[in-house]
Amino acid sequence: MTKSREHFGSRFAVVMAMSGSAIGLGNIWRFPYLVGENGGAAFIAVYILASLFLSVPIFLAESIIGRRTHSNTFGAIDKLAPGSCWKWLGLITVFTPLIILSYYSVVGGWSIEYLIKSLEFKFTAPDVQFDGIFGTFISSAWWPLACHTIFLFVCALIIVGGVKGGIEKFSNFSMPVLFLMILIIMIYSFTLPGAKAGVIYLVKPDFAGLTRTGIASAMGQSFYSLSLGVGTILTYSSYVSKKENLLTSGLGTAGFDLLFALMAGFAVMSAVFAAGIAPGSGPGLIFETLPYVFNKMATFSPILSSVVAILFFLTVLIAALTSAVSLFEVGVAYLVEEKNVRRMPATVIIFFGVWLVGCMCSLSFGPLKGFTLYDKNLFSFLDMISSNFLMAAGAMVFAIFVGWKMKREDVYDEFTNGGTLRFNVKCFPLIYFLIKYVAPVVIGVIFISGLIM
Ligand code: TRP
Repeated sequence: MTKSREHFGSRFAVVMAMSGSAIGLGNIWRFPYLVGENGGAAFIAVYILASLFLSVPIFLAESIIGRRTHSNTFGAIDKLAPGSCWKWLGLITVFTPLIILSYYSVVGGWSIEYLIKSLEFKFTAPDVQFDGIFGTFISSAWWPLACHTIFLFVCALIIVGGVKGGIEKFSNFSMPVLFLMILIIMIYSFTLPGAKAGVIYLVKPDFAGLTRTGIASAMGQSFYSLSLGVGTILTYSSYVSKKENLLTSGLGTAGFDLLFALMAGFAVMSAVFAAGIAPGSGPGLIFETLPYVFNKMATFSPILSSVVAILFFLTVLIAALTSAVSLFEVGVAYLVEEKNVRRMPATVIIFFGVWLVGCMCSLSFGPLKGFTLYDKNLFSFLDMISSNFLMAAGAMVFAIFVGWKMKREDVYDEFTNGGTLRFNVKCFPLIYFLIKYVAPVVIGVIFISGLIM
């Protein structure tokens, strides 16, 4: 029944692929802004604590399910709890990533357009008019659709290559490049006059500025950033061999994700403050504020500023691609393993489904603006239900599944590689406690109080 399944080739590949999923737009446009808004270093401290005691355990819960079964999300739940109503969890986690992918790939498309614009020196030429460029672009019909299509098509090409030939090769190459690029941009930003204010914005600890909402945002951002609750980590873990140490790859991924978020934060905020403007958040931060920053910098050093603009949008594009690929893989793994579809047609099916919904998201800024759900256009609506609701619910249910449904011995066996990893054996009681009690309760509380971002 089980066909031979692909595995990632090395620990490096596992951590690169998982970091590829984790490091994405969230690190570049959400983290820096949230830090600045919520008490600087105080927020970072809460973020690190939330990552260690909440997100990493949930990450491990997903990893345990994935590697135990070596199956896609649906198959994994079905193997561990056959014929029970848990299969809905499996099914939901096949669809949530595809919902996220449909609007994520629209933003991926925007980054292609901005990369092209920066290659044409559109931001660094002396007399550019910025007002409304972004709004005009996203509300137009055809070009954003074309960019969305190209972005999703590139994801599909990587996916068709398979786990080793596609995902592993791409992330092994692109993740180190991504770190190098953000390092160069950060160093450039630090050299700008006035950059210090940006650094202060991020590191000044202000415990009074850290409200209850800020604490909930730190937790929400930590889940979002580690791509939890939607079965991507589960799926990638199902490609991890039995020899690997799940704890090491989980901590490695969380560490790289945090490092990248901090570097992106310093890079972006130093430049924004050096330009003397107020930082925006979300898409506005990278697609409106930064082009303006690049333009201001171009008055002193046109060439350097143009190069940094190109590097920056390339960074955004690659970060978005590696995350999108992990979302894509969840659906493909499901079709291949549960529906016996070959990888190529499975990729085509997912491509068209996601493309269609993505087109509607893209058009929801322009021609389909009038069509709203709960006062939001389709793009924001899908973002809201997936990142506020489905991700948190998924994370909680995965924790409950591992803590309460799976047998403790099986969880122990998977986490410690059959009792052979000494450090994991020592940590097990703590991790198990965090998965079984702390994660469900804390997420439940945040959830019910409606504070999760
Ligand atoms: N972690 C991604 C980022 O920081 C976004 C994301 C959220 C994601 N959930 C996901 C990516 C699930 C892949 C899979 O941008």
